[in-house]
Amino acid sequence: MGKETGIFTNGWLMTETAYHPAKERIGGTQFCIGNGLMGLRGSYEELGTKEVQGLYAAGVFRTSVERQFCIADTFCRKKYIFNEELMPTPEEIHLIQNLPDPLFVKIWLDGEPFRMWDGQLLEYKRTLDLKTGTLVRTVRWDDGKGNITSLRFRRFCSMAQRHLIAQEICITPENWSGEVKVESGIDASLNIEYVESVEKDFATGLLLKSDVVGGAMVFQCMENRLQGCSSPWESETKLRRYKKVAVVEAQQGETLALEKFSTVYSTQDGNPAADAVELASRSANAGFAACLEKSSKVWASLWEQADIEIEGDPEAQSKLRYAIFHLIIASPQADPRVSIGAKALTGQGYSGHVFWDTDINLAPFYQWVFPEWGGAHVRYRRRILDAARAYAESEGRKGARYPWQSSIEGFEHAPIAITCSRTQIHVTADVAYCALRYADISGDFHWLETEGKAMVAECARYMVERVVLNEAEDRYEIHGVGGPDEYHPLTNNNAYTNYLTAYVLRRAAVFCEDPQEAARWLEIAEKMYCPVDGKTGLIPQCDGFYDLKDTWDVTGGDWGGPGAEYHECKGLKQPDVVLLLTLMPEQFRRKHLQANWDYYERFIQHGSSLSPSIHALVAAKLDLMDRAKHYFDLSSNFDFVDYNKDTLAGIHIGNFGGLWQAMVYGFAGLELDGDELKFDPHLPENWTSLKFNLRFRGEALAVRVTASGAKVATVDGEPLDELPSMLEEDAVPA
Ligand code: BGC
Repeated sequence: MGKETGIFTNGWLMTETAYHPAKERIGGTQFCIGNGLMGLRGSYEELGTKEVQGLYAAGVFRTSVERQFCIADTFCRKKYIFNEELMPTPEEIHLIQNLPDPLFVKIWLDGEPFRMWDGQLLEYKRTLDLKTGTLVRTVRWDDGKGNITSLRFRRFCSMAQRHLIAQEICITPENWSGEVKVESGIDASLNIEYVESVEKDFATGLLLKSDVVGGAMVFQCMENRLQGCSSPWESETKLRRYKKVAVVEAQQGETLALEKFSTVYSTQDGNPAADAVELASRSANAGFAACLEKSSKVWASLWEQADIEIEGDPEAQSKLRYAIFHLIIASPQADPRVSIGAKALTGQGYSGHVFWDTDINLAPFYQWVFPEWGGAHVRYRRRILDAARAYAESEGRKGARYPWQSSIEGFEHAPIAITCSRTQIHVTADVAYCALRYADISGDFHWLETEGKAMVAECARYMVERVVLNEAEDRYEIHGVGGPDEYHPLTNNNAYTNYLTAYVLRRAAVFCEDPQEAARWLEIAEKMYCPVDGKTGLIPQCDGFYDLKDTWDVTGGDWGGPGAEYHECKGLKQPDVVLLLTLMPEQFRRKHLQANWDYYERFIQHGSSLSPSIHALVAAKLDLMDRAKHYFDLSSNFDFVDYNKDTLAGIHIGNFGGLWQAMVYGFAGLELDGDELKFDPHLPENWTSLKFNLRFRGEALAVRVTASGAKVATVDGEPLDELPSMLEEDAVPA
């Protein structure tokens, strides 16, 4: 990591040792912190700029009627005829709102404004401590006139009191004594999508109310404590920056500490204004250290459950922890009102919307590690079922169609111009698959059999609506769809969609209340066209895939941009068949993995961040350890090397979900076979062992995997039997 970016990690610390103004935007993402209720980008206290600064609160969206930036697949739309009337495009959509910046603090040292790019920066270090979710910046700064000051900035979003952000700034004049002026405030100047006003002005803080256009009302309170400050703080507002200003005398060699406590509540929370004030003042009275200790304790228990220890590879260890850190801070935890957007709460990419990424890439981490959090996601999907029903109805179809993009509301947020949003109906099957897997893993069959079953059934009904009978072949087919691979958005018989539909219908039939309907679902599942070459195990991605061109001279692009030609050739944006194989390990064995890996890997372009980790998973299962490690590196470096040149818009959280799957399903080789867990480990040469915890149907398990096998014990230390290896040759697809 170090070489590519100047950022390296050491066990639990991710450290940057040079200040690069050009990297501020990407650093905003890389040094983001959060707690699932909010995400706070890694901007500097003294500098807020639109693309660096960001505070996002889960579920706080604005409503927009503006025409969306259109990454239109014009090529595809011209080439293939769509019935646009069947594909309504939203008139209004929700966009995640970037809220007023609570970090804002400006400091004057003996009359000179502290700015890292002025004067002389003698030392600079920024460290994200993954263990406690704390961001620390230390600076030694010469103001250009010979006054040298050391400053240490610390901040965290509390895991114990999740509406709280705490900051501490320690200022030590090294060779001077004089006045230190502090302006501490909330900066609302960077965005225009809310109307803000000061609700209350206190001696040491204030309460700001922001009315987000077409969205919630947000209340942000701040309280300040400046050591040695006996005179009152002045209030000042300039250009939508709401500030408290104080001046103190600093002595050479003595450290002054400013502590700032900011709270964020919205009208989604019971009593937002009063709670914001109460928590800010309670936290200020407790102090930064006590709040940090409380939060760190919660972090410790989260890590105890979520860490994966890699013995033998410190670099891989650090990168993996960074990924798990993000998976932890992405989750709204047990709150089913919201779910995780494609960039979680780290940036505005994809407008904060939830995609199928959450059901397929992210869900396994939560289902195996924090089942209550995994449960919240399926409850979120259940909550928006009526909107999904309305979507199906708007097409004149039965059942429920889950949208390509959703917010706290389940209507389709994607503009029609994004072809794949209308053709990737597999999202609906993914939602059902995720609910079924949630029950299989957590053991929460009660939820499935009560609340969940209506959702799974409605998904099944919609998929049935999309099936056509090919009488000549006496089989059911699905036409006019795309699979996960966006470079082939409109095809017939996408294997991923057909296989997953058959899977969902088969399982939904088990709890379908109408025997006739159940029989029909089973009949369709049995006769669904799920192509596979019986001898080799090769599966065509879609009809005609093998006839597409083998080579191409386009370099990147999707949705019909510069890469429109991909539709004509075999170049893949992301795994499609290869992903399918990972979803139904009980159906696909080594033969299928090998044949499809050998065929498809050469065409993959990794145009999506969802791609490398799935390749790591499959390569590990196939014992292709060089490839597996290569893809592990690609995935774990994705946002450090800014692989797709869009990290500034937020972390690729789906990639991290896939990386966790690569670790547990790939390298450790976990498979859920009926009611049994099996492991078939394949570790890179220098990985001596992997250690991690899982929750399986109410039981807390500690797993230790070495190249020769896995040992599983209950967390209280009771050893379970040594588990057998699997991936035998004899299994065949159902
Ligand atoms: C991928 C999709 C994904 C979306 C959001 C796209 O680039 O191709 O599969 O759902 O990003 O992450």
